[in-house]
Amino acid sequence: MDRNSLTFQFLKNPFTVGACCPSSPFLAQEITSFTGLENVSSIVELGPGTGALTGAILKKKAPDARFFAVELNVSVLETFRKNFPEVKVYNESAVNLPEIARKEGLARVDTIISGLPWALFPDALQNELLSAITSTLAGDGWFCTFSYIHCPLLPAGRLFRKKLDENFTRVETSSVVWKNLPPAFVYRCRKCS
Ligand SMILES: C[S@@+](CC[C@H](N)C(=O)[O-])C[C@H]1O[C@@H](n2cnc3c(N)ncnc32)[C@H](O)[C@@H]1O
Repeated sequence: MDRNSLTFQFLKNPFTVGACCPSSPFLAQEITSFTGLENVSSIVELGPGTGALTGAILKKKAPDARFFAVELNVSVLETFRKNFPEVKVYNESAVNLPEIARKEGLARVDTIISGLPWALFPDALQNELLSAITSTLAGDGWFCTFSYIHCPLLPAGRLFRKKLDENFTRVETSSVVWKNLPPAFVYRCRKCS
């Protein structure tokens, strides 16, 4: 098995990688299918892994929109860089998003798309990440992330949903994407209505 694949890295680091296989093109389509993504001027992807959602973002974004990614796992990053050599990716924790955005010369980012495995994260890390995200997101920006269908049944998944409601004024959920392993749905969140 390829040591830089998401599956190998999941077996090695299950609590940070959080998925045994990359998201399906159907989930990638769902997470990028909101009105306006094609018009925003800056997009960040958190936890891109090997890039299962990245192709859909590249397809949808405006040609001149700024786009970069932040990925913690150095091994999947190697595969990501091979798959998407044109995308700038930082090998850091998404907790550092405000500093990374500043380095990119961006005061705020219009859209943040996350593939982070929230339900596996402890309370303190969920707080740190949400604080980094909400302080970087533009006032009318969108934060989109996905959850596996079973996660709202787990305490950390329930906690995450509660935190979304506390941190955003609007939280929408998509219908379930059954053609994904496991099936998943998307949270779309906004700070203002
Ligand atoms: C569930 S996988 C999703 C990968 C890909 N986005 C997909 O949908 O197939 C989660 C990814 O988030 C990365 N990750 C976990 N914690 C992170 C953090 N604090 N900062 C940045 N990336 C992180 C993992 O290394 C992994 O690649």
